[in-house]
Amino acid sequence: MHVLVTGGAGFIGSHSVDLLLAQGHQVRVLDDLSSGKAENLQPHPALELRIGDIRDRDAVHAAMVGIDAVLHLAAQVFVPVSIDQPVFSASVNVLGTVQVLDAARLAGVRRVVYASSAAIYGTPAALPVSEDTPSRPLSPYGLEKYIDEQYAALFQGLHGLSCCGMRYFNVYGPRQDPRSAYSGVISRFQDAIAAGRPLTVFGDGLQTRDFVSVFDVARANCTALTERTEVQGVINVATGTSVTLLELIAALGRAAGRELEVQHLPGRAGEVRDSRVVPERLWQELGIRGAAIAF
Ligand SMILES: NC(=O)c1ccc[n+]([C@@H]2O[C@H](COP(=O)([O-])OP(=O)(O)OC[C@H]3O[C@@H](n4cnc5c(N)ncnc54)[C@H](O)[C@@H]3O)[C@@H](O)[C@H]2O)c1
Repeated sequence: MHVLVTGGAGFIGSHSVDLLLAQGHQVRVLDDLSSGKAENLQPHPALELRIGDIRDRDAVHAAMVGIDAVLHLAAQVFVPVSIDQPVFSASVNVLGTVQVLDAARLAGVRRVVYASSAAIYGTPAALPVSEDTPSRPLSPYGLEKYIDEQYAALFQGLHGLSCCGMRYFNVYGPRQDPRSAYSGVISRFQDAIAAGRPLTVFGDGLQTRDFVSVFDVARANCTALTERTEVQGVINVATGTSVTLLELIAALGRAAGRELEVQHLPGRAGEVRDSRVVPERLWQELGIRGAAIAF
């Protein structure tokens, strides 16, 4: 297949590109390199990198030519930025997504798989969550992802564009940038451990998360995009195992062979307290059962 991956130079995108190339697909990446890096992508004869913005109509339409399926991952990914700059964040995460969906249907693309997020749940009324749990986002970022889901459903109903939204929980793995204060907590902790710095925890450390490997996320993306194309709607992408940050730190300390120093800072606005999910659709309909971190 000819696949377009928006945000393909990013963390999840580059692992998805690696897998698509290994499966023999032709891959075009559209990325503005705002948080991704060209170095995340190894040169490959079946890979083309186009530097461009998903809000740029001409760039998106040109990138769609000859494409069978789209993996749409490009986004403004930082929750605090969405709170401080909601207009900018919505321009990328809502209008950018509408631009991609519109160009895809006009180009006759057969399948769109796109990134949603566990952030759409906010603080749910009950745990564990399922895909039917109502959305109560705590940040513009979560709301933007929820709006994207509504647009995808509408494009499917209006134009027959087959869409599947992936609600990723906390993804970890190689190439996650540890330098941003907002990036994945595991990459930040590993960076601090390597540098001998204390680990910074926002709040009491008893918040829970479901940490899912980027390799399982890439498998879920590629399966939904190229194999299980009949699966539509939204899918929780997680392991089904939740841990507290303090449990995570204890496990990292055991791996490092020493007790790790922790520095607590006040909790951050827009952050979810507890995250717990039973990802039945991922297991049953995509056939992906990712391993949880052993604690
Ligand atoms: N990492 C996680 O735990 C997680 C959890 C839930 C959802 N997500 C979603 O998954 C997707 C990928 O996230 P990631 O963790 O790989 O982050 P990332 O920052 O590594 O990837 C995002 C990519 O999009 C590109 N991009 C940003 N704005 C763009 C624009 N206007 N035009 C073109 N490209 C643009 C960036 O340069 C980057 O390469 C995002 O949609 C994100 O919201 C990630």
